[in-house]
Amino acid sequence: MTPPTSASAPVNGPVSADESALLAAFEARIAAGECIEPKDWMPERYRKQLTRMMSQHAHSEVVGMLPEGNWITRAPSLRRKLSLIAKVQDEAGHGLYIYCGTETLGVDRQELVEQLLDGRAKYSSIFNYPTLSWADMGVIGWLVDGAAIVNQTVLAKASYGPYARAMVRICKEENFHKRQGYEICTVLANGTPAQKAMVQESVNRFWWPALMMFGPSDTNSPNSAELLKWRVKRKTNDELRQRFVNLTVPQAIALGITLPDPDLRFDEATGDWKFGAIDWSEFHEVLAGNGPCNQERLAARRKAHDDGAWVRAAANAHAEKQRARKDSAVA
Ligand SMILES: [Fe+2]
Ligand SMILES: [Fe+2]
Repeated sequence: MTPPTSASAPVNGPVSADESALLAAFEARIAAGECIEPKDWMPERYRKQLTRMMSQHAHSEVVGMLPEGNWITRAPSLRRKLSLIAKVQDEAGHGLYIYCGTETLGVDRQELVEQLLDGRAKYSSIFNYPTLSWADMGVIGWLVDGAAIVNQTVLAKASYGPYARAMVRICKEENFHKRQGYEICTVLANGTPAQKAMVQESVNRFWWPALMMFGPSDTNSPNSAELLKWRVKRKTNDELRQRFVNLTVPQAIALGITLPDPDLRFDEATGDWKFGAIDWSEFHEVLAGNGPCNQERLAARRKAHDDGAWVRAAANAHAEKQRARKDSAVA
């Protein structure tokens, strides 16, 4: 199917015969497994949904630096400190790739950053929980980056080319993050009784919030149907959550760590680890801004943005100077 790529094509939904034809061609391309690229025609709703999803993702990468950045100065060895710095720096890179991806949709990054700073934008609920012990660095790598991999591996097959390609690279780095986290957990779980207790206590705090990272249950996920239809998402929230649990339970068993769910059991018929009920009221409270660290995270981002004003001003002045030099050379 030849892609309709007219830049002047209407983008506000199928109100005319022309637009219906464009939409049909767009959906046929998606059904055929083709990628949609920035200059291709796309329904405005697809652009909006992608912008929402990608900007939330970018914000999550950047806010996600904060809970772990908190432990860089307290890492127990130089080796641990180096790998934690590298991981936190990777997350900044992930944020940048994805913000760049949103710009290919015609969005101004500044606008997205403002939405985050003034509290209008959402980001992953998990980053509103505090990091109270060194074991949290291990458990975040194992569970939080582990959940991110499950999510993002599927996004690497998303229908929007720039997003899918960003995910391929990001997933490679997330694999390192998960391994460094699991290695920290392994060392602690095989250490002194106090170290083992520390990792168990951390798992007790992070297990349920990690399951909530996949978003609301399919029965209560208003955007899912459309995202699945257009193959921005390829699996439902509940499918991904189950996959994560199935992958993670054997890892917990290998560590000798108990997951804080008395209802967790293996279902022979389906091959799934069935888990207990998630406390969705907690999830909605955190999303509404009432989690343990929401205020702290936004305050830290606002401060970082203000502190970086001179860098942005200098970069703009430099770009302006370069442009003037180029213009005078042409003249
Ligand atoms: Fe990341
Ligand atoms: Fe990561």
